[in-house]
Amino acid sequence: MDFLGPVGLLHEEKTLGCSQKGLPCPSNSSELVQKCLQQFKVTGAQLQQIQASLLASMEQALKERASPVPAVQMLPTYVRSTPHGTEQGDFIVLELGAKGASLRVLWVTLTGTEGHRVVPRSQEFVIPQEVMLGPGQQLFDFAAHCLAEFLDTHPVSSQSLQLGFSFSFPCHQTGLDRSTLISWTKGFRCSGVEGQDVVQLLRDAIQRLGAYNIDVVAVVNDTVGTMMGCEPGVRPCEVGLVVDTGTNACYMEEAQHVAVLDNDRGRMCVSVEWGSFSDNGALGPVLTTFDHALDHESLNPGDQRFEKMIGGLYLGELVRLVLVHLAHHGVLFGGYTSPALLSQGSILLEHVAEMEDPSAGVARVHAILQDLGLSPEASDIELVQHVCEAVCTRAAQLCGAALAAVLSRLQRSREHQTLQVAVATGGQVFEQHPRFSSILQDTVMLLAPQCDVSFVPSVDGGGQGVAMVTAVAARLAAHQLLLEETLAPFRLNRKQLAAVQAQMQEAMARGLRGEASSLRMLPTYVRATPNGSERGDFLALDLGGTNFRVLLVRVATGGVQITSQVYSIPECVAQGSGQQLFDHIVDCIVDFQDKQGLSGQSLPLGFTFSFPCRQIGLDQGILLNWTKGFNASDCEGQDVVYLLREAIRRRQAVELKVVAIVNDTVGTMMSCGYEDPHCEIGLIVGTGTNACYMEELRNVAGVAGDSGHMCINMEWGAFGDDGSLGMLSTRFDASVDQMSINPGKQRFEKMISGMYLGEIVRHILLHLTSLGVLFRGQQIQCLQTRDIFKTKFLSEIESDSLALRQVRAILEDLGLPLTSDDAQMVLEVCQAVSQRAAQLCGAGVAAVVERIRENRGLEELTVSVGVDGTLYKLHPHFSSLVAATVRELAPRCAVTFLQSEDGSGKGAALVTAVACRLAQKIRV
Ligand code: BG6
Ligand code: GLC
Ligand code: GLC
Repeated sequence: MDFLGPVGLLHEEKTLGCSQKGLPCPSNSSELVQKCLQQFKVTGAQLQQIQASLLASMEQALKERASPVPAVQMLPTYVRSTPHGTEQGDFIVLELGAKGASLRVLWVTLTGTEGHRVVPRSQEFVIPQEVMLGPGQQLFDFAAHCLAEFLDTHPVSSQSLQLGFSFSFPCHQTGLDRSTLISWTKGFRCSGVEGQDVVQLLRDAIQRLGAYNIDVVAVVNDTVGTMMGCEPGVRPCEVGLVVDTGTNACYMEEAQHVAVLDNDRGRMCVSVEWGSFSDNGALGPVLTTFDHALDHESLNPGDQRFEKMIGGLYLGELVRLVLVHLAHHGVLFGGYTSPALLSQGSILLEHVAEMEDPSAGVARVHAILQDLGLSPEASDIELVQHVCEAVCTRAAQLCGAALAAVLSRLQRSREHQTLQVAVATGGQVFEQHPRFSSILQDTVMLLAPQCDVSFVPSVDGGGQGVAMVTAVAARLAAHQLLLEETLAPFRLNRKQLAAVQAQMQEAMARGLRGEASSLRMLPTYVRATPNGSERGDFLALDLGGTNFRVLLVRVATGGVQITSQVYSIPECVAQGSGQQLFDHIVDCIVDFQDKQGLSGQSLPLGFTFSFPCRQIGLDQGILLNWTKGFNASDCEGQDVVYLLREAIRRRQAVELKVVAIVNDTVGTMMSCGYEDPHCEIGLIVGTGTNACYMEELRNVAGVAGDSGHMCINMEWGAFGDDGSLGMLSTRFDASVDQMSINPGKQRFEKMISGMYLGEIVRHILLHLTSLGVLFRGQQIQCLQTRDIFKTKFLSEIESDSLALRQVRAILEDLGLPLTSDDAQMVLEVCQAVSQRAAQLCGAGVAAVVERIRENRGLEELTVSVGVDGTLYKLHPHFSSLVAATVRELAPRCAVTFLQSEDGSGKGAALVTAVACRLAQKIRV
């Protein structure tokens, strides 16, 4: 068979050697033999140099954009772990490229039980020469036909057929089922395949044939199949070595060293593709004239120079070239050759292996040579055996040096002094050649003495390993499907969002009219944004967000100057008695006054109180109900200003004039309004969520007056508490609600704000774990703990600048032991949850701006929204998603979002300042 090139070298029937031709024969033929065989001798120093040079090339190739172009490719395979031994199921394996012109189809059953193996059924097909060198489509159609023929003759019960594709050529993989052929090697050269995804080409061919419904789940290099098929032993099997028609190895590299992998954690199997190793400095001295001749006549001259000294496709050819040379010089076969001997590819690996095998005996060598049309003498037979030995010994030594380089790399990446590892071996050179394995092992011992290596022959020529990878890939694909199903209810379309907006607008209108509505639409008695003439020193309190703050706000001609201090409110206080809470607040004020040297001064005070209050004036607010994490007793139904004044009275030491109580949305709007007169909306997306806006006074039932405006605290967190958001609420929202301190309340807030998003994520993760999709199905204790998954993690995890490995680190700090696949899923969960939150928030803002536009009868509205809250400010995508949703749902409103920099305390002080200015005016 002619597999080295399209045209064989057929010379004249019988070529004469030098003696017959009357040419001078070498004076000493044994000298010529010596010289010839000597070329194949490789010294220890040369092997060491090859090892060092390959190691350097490997390390260079692991780095991104290495320059100059490294001599090996180091291709990630997306196989991240060696088998657990628990993989199970039935799989079809299609092997193309490892065994030259032979294509193999296998049916592999994985039992999931160690040591219990079902022998696979398999069938081999010969790929015709014209298919190996023809158009790519023809090759893949041929493969699809072989699959169908196999399945026709080996009927299988399973309906869904999952296939692992062993494709043994250098490929750029970007996933377990995405792989672009870089270049053909060995005897293949089909047109139109290089640069294409071979999985897709196979899928297309299977579909064209239409006979079977087969899902191509994974694509694997033969080295990976070899490694993955290794029976679990004492040592980890982390290297796969193939010497078949070609040669190559793969090993488990630390993923952080593989630059193209975005610094991931864990390990990834990397295919070295050492067949293409071509460092002139190291290889030059060992290349013989025969290697050059072989390369010159091959399909891919100049490429795969290392492989051409080792691979089974080339060993017979090297032997042939040497025999021809010796015959031509009259040293062999009495100077005679034969047409067969002169034909490229006439000596195969199996011939070489047999001729070298001492047990085969002289008679066998004789028979093989006779088949080649030669009539060997006894001395010829001995010499031919020497040639075979020389060629194969060199191959095994070179392969040993390359393996030593891989082992050194493995040891270095593990940062261990010594390495204990198993190497899975596969390929016909190992199977057929009597001494290859032992020479290779001796070489490795010599070159990598620090590595304690055991060699394990692969099972089913790698078929089992391919099935293992396929099982993993199939599991991942099934998990992805379950993940998608779980997250589907979080993915809202435009229609759903527009419905939320419309419902919100209706609820606003009802609430304003004083009708039953989940939106309370509370008047705030703030009628105007500041006009800039306010002056004075004010105290402000800011209670209800992440931090409790006491502030001194100086409003002067040059602007506003703020001094503030954060105090903690322990949970036991937030959820203790009302008296305790307000006493604590006053203690903090006293402490602040002391520190600021304000003791004894009675400054006007504005109180940002971020809970729903029914106000009957600027300085009176009845707490309707606690929200977020607060639940102090005896406060609901009470005037909060009164409760504060009572606590001041109890404390006696202070004198304070509480002038105004404002919601944080209002404080934020006022604070931003000081800078931008268009700011007529306040939005909070922090621990809780809410909005306020300037409404026409005539629309506000229960407040006297028909002209002018009043700021309305919507308390939109409660939107949907009448059940109107039911169709959007998922089972996870229901769980979060049930486990909260206010079940059935603040349903909109619980889908959006920081206090709850982490909890939603936690519930989804619990569900995915119970489906076996995450954490290998093992329930993780810490995930049972409420509030363990803080919303700030969402913001961190979703940051674009974060590599997956950092995501893993964050989650591992939480005590979640995850794989990279787990980390990717957690990331997708976070994205789905925060995206829905931002879109719902956007639908709410769209309702508000549309209402303002309609109120004013405007075609177009230009308006600004003052925004505060840690989720809005810290999350990497939240704000842009809100803005995008508003643009989509309220296209006639030009909305600008202003982030409040000074907190709503400044706004509360400004409200107080306005009130003081107006009071002064009245007195005057
Ligand atoms: C702060 C405001 O900046 O943001 C508070 O000053 C407000 O009044 C808070 O409640 C909201 O955000 P978070 O994330 O702290 O709840
Ligand atoms: C060639 C291929 C490589 C394969 C090896 C052994 O070198 O390029 O992918 O692993 O042969 O079959
Ligand atoms: C909660 C409160 C509301 C506040 C919001 C943001 O929804 O009920 O008053 O504005 O949280 O802090």
